[in-house]
Amino acid sequence: MSLFRTKLLSPDEMEHSGLKRVLSAFDLTFLGVGAIIGTGIFVLTGIAAANLSGPAVVLSFIISGLACAFAALAYAELASAVGGSGSAYGYSYAAFGELVAWIIGWDLLLEYGVSVAAVANGWSGYFNNALTAVGLGLPDALTKAPSAGGLINLPAAGIVIALMIMLIIGVKQSTRLNTAMVFIKLLTIATFIGVALFHVEPANWSPFMPFGWFDHAADGKPIGVLAGASIVFFAYVGFDAVSTAAEEAKNPQRDLPIGIIASLLFCTLIYIVVSGLLTGIVPYTILNVSSPVAFALEKIGIHWASALVSTGVIAGLTTVMLVLYYGLTRIFFSMSRDGLLPRSFAKVNENTHTPVRAIVFFGIVISAMSGLIPLGELAELVNIGTLAAFVLVCFGVIVLRIRQPHIHRPFKNPLNPFFPILGMLSCGALMAFLPLTTWLRFGLWLALGLVVYFSYSYRNSNLATRS
Ligand code: ALA
Repeated sequence: MSLFRTKLLSPDEMEHSGLKRVLSAFDLTFLGVGAIIGTGIFVLTGIAAANLSGPAVVLSFIISGLACAFAALAYAELASAVGGSGSAYGYSYAAFGELVAWIIGWDLLLEYGVSVAAVANGWSGYFNNALTAVGLGLPDALTKAPSAGGLINLPAAGIVIALMIMLIIGVKQSTRLNTAMVFIKLLTIATFIGVALFHVEPANWSPFMPFGWFDHAADGKPIGVLAGASIVFFAYVGFDAVSTAAEEAKNPQRDLPIGIIASLLFCTLIYIVVSGLLTGIVPYTILNVSSPVAFALEKIGIHWASALVSTGVIAGLTTVMLVLYYGLTRIFFSMSRDGLLPRSFAKVNENTHTPVRAIVFFGIVISAMSGLIPLGELAELVNIGTLAAFVLVCFGVIVLRIRQPHIHRPFKNPLNPFFPILGMLSCGALMAFLPLTTWLRFGLWLALGLVVYFSYSYRNSNLATRS
């Protein structure tokens, strides 16, 4: 048996999944925007501005947006050429074979799982902010992780359990619910922009780059615009979720590339405007709080807008978590169905018609993580995992062009292999600006993955049992 067993999805597998093809390019773009805009812009912008980039956080957003653009082009080509669902996991099965597919799938489990925990932390900040506004604020002990000076982040752990119950009883991401939530989110952002535009103090933008491009803080952690870019990268996580909707797209080969690229462009634009305004209305030094956008509006005295933004963010972050949690169970489900993980996890409960075991398993793990680990560390771990997946996806474009030169590619990367190589380099560089501890944790996760693969998946996968 070769280590590089390859599986290509047959047209039959792609066409007869049983799901209805109802999503247009517009729906897919909306789905992307629903999954993308969240804790990254509403929380991490403040943390990155105060600690890493200063007002130049806007440059951090541009840099990480550019790296994502190369990855998005690679995703777009693979989505149009390979199709199928399961996102990068499915593509890499076709491009590289089973071992790399396993590594990407294992990596995506980390990305999606820890993302939910990180967004739950962001949600908790705004939730507690809203509670405080009505005089019911929780003490620090119940809103902070132990390493941040508290006992447990109770709202974060609680919202994950609530989502777990919702997913078990089958509250899927319906497009209509998603569309409504995305509108609320966009309305929240429009309110912020509309108010902030009239309260900018240009003096707040200076010094523009207080921490330089790249340096080390006293504790040895990287700081500067590039370190900021590798943190705010979290704001872009989720555009790849569009690719998981391939089986429900009306015309996936045309509309998936449009959905992926349009949602990324739109969000990048919003991030540039919002981060520029946020650091323009208050000094960046005071933004190291858990709900910076609402906090800044409060500081300039616009209380109604602050309350409105808090409510909008609470709703908006809930959908981000639902999409990511749902995506996580979907990838886990595909991997179990392919035999790489115990097939019992792919079992669908007869009463609820949902993969209850997978949902409960992740609910417990993610809830514990979100209650006990602070947001910054969670986001760094998500970013390193996602960036590694992007590097492999870009590489996948090059490999698939060589291995399958004649496959129909309705969307092609311009300037191949120049763009995919730029994608690999820029995503790889962002990984390099992350702290050493994050690298160690990521290395441990990958090592654990290889142990699981060689001790279980290699023998039990569908490809192994077939051959
Ligand atoms: N991009 C998503 C967020 O910022 C994960 O919350």
